[in-house]
Amino acid sequence: MIKQKEYARRRRQLMKMAGEDSIVILQAAPAKIRNNDVHYPYRQDSDFLYLTGFREHEAILALIPGSEGGTSILFCRERDPEREMWDGRMVGLEAAVSEYGMDQAYCIKEAETRLRELLQNTERIFYDLGKHPLFDQRLIGWLNEFRGEARKTFHAPEEIHALDHMLHDMRLYKSREELSAMRRSAKVAIEAHQTAMQICQPGMNEAEIYASLLHSVTRNQCEISYLPIVGGGANACVLHYIANNSELHDGELLLIDAGAEYDGYASDITRTFPVNGKFSPDQRALYEVVLAAQAAAIDKARAGIQWQEVHNAAIRVATEGMIDLGILGGSVDEEIESEGYKKFYVHNTGHWLGLDVHDVGEYTIDGHSRELEPGMVLTVEPGIYIPPGEESVEESWRGVGIRIEDNVAITRDAPRILTDGLARTADEVEAAMAA
Ligand code: GLY
Ligand code: MN
Ligand code: MN
Repeated sequence: MIKQKEYARRRRQLMKMAGEDSIVILQAAPAKIRNNDVHYPYRQDSDFLYLTGFREHEAILALIPGSEGGTSILFCRERDPEREMWDGRMVGLEAAVSEYGMDQAYCIKEAETRLRELLQNTERIFYDLGKHPLFDQRLIGWLNEFRGEARKTFHAPEEIHALDHMLHDMRLYKSREELSAMRRSAKVAIEAHQTAMQICQPGMNEAEIYASLLHSVTRNQCEISYLPIVGGGANACVLHYIANNSELHDGELLLIDAGAEYDGYASDITRTFPVNGKFSPDQRALYEVVLAAQAAAIDKARAGIQWQEVHNAAIRVATEGMIDLGILGGSVDEEIESEGYKKFYVHNTGHWLGLDVHDVGEYTIDGHSRELEPGMVLTVEPGIYIPPGEESVEESWRGVGIRIEDNVAITRDAPRILTDGLARTADEVEAAMAA
């Protein structure tokens, strides 16, 4: 688990970046009602979680930079025995200090009065407008009041700065503790994929595999990091397929994209395997193309290399492979130049990974693809998808979709594959299915 010390270190670092005479304000994610007394599963806002580890709604974090590392103030709900009878234990004000390392904790009902005081004589507010429109309105309302009313007695903040530039750049570089949480999240996802490979049989329904994934993740006391994709046959070509309710047929492939969330951190793994446990020669040939594209991309995932080069490595190998198999007709350079490969290679080769599956952090800086640096974590997930109605290719390729996705940490040396240990080559996959 990420320790209190690490959350405190993050808050200190952020306050140092914000500088004196400023205040940083973040709001917890609101709870969402599904209907009547039923809620959607609650998930804390990732920025809020990153700075607090606090998982309740109705909370506000205020950070006041200053000497000795600044002051962390949490506004949250007071413990309430009657409420606890319905919803279980609440953190409350005392534990916000003793267990969450806050310097001060106040009841959320006091937030308005106290925040108004804290805002006075502050130069700058760091706050992300647009995420919580109601709170945006309150904050702007207070500032307008201040401007009108009390210029003579105190100084009202003039500026609201976006917080996300600083905070999201911090989140992009993972600490040792974060990497170990991500490895644990990967391990749970690996077990889920392994079990799915072992139980898969022709005649099963995608729903049974989906249930098995949920079972594996839940029994390891994790959450799913997103709704799993379990796409048999041509369903694999629907990139965000989540219906997960078709029969799995002998001779077809099954694509599973599923990840776990441990202590807030996501894994994101895709494997594609034959429903009957044995790749056909054509399936194996296309699988080898995607695998080689992934290997080329992972090999580029090193400090000092630009993101774009990782993607370029994958598309070059994938394009060469599709030409060799007669799926594309031009030369490699022509297909890349004209983006002909995009007909079947439709998404980017990866994304940042962390507290969010598609994690925060810029991909370009000053218009240039960002260089990879130690501590960054990304997915490498080339995919080739040939729609069922695609008449430009031989019939045997139609309705085939293959993606292989792993999670890679950038180090000072070789890429570290956090999802290592799960069958990846065609032979490994067949062996895992036979086990
Ligand atoms: N599971 C979402 C993705 O692979 O990006
Ligand atoms: Mn992904
Ligand atoms: Mn994925």
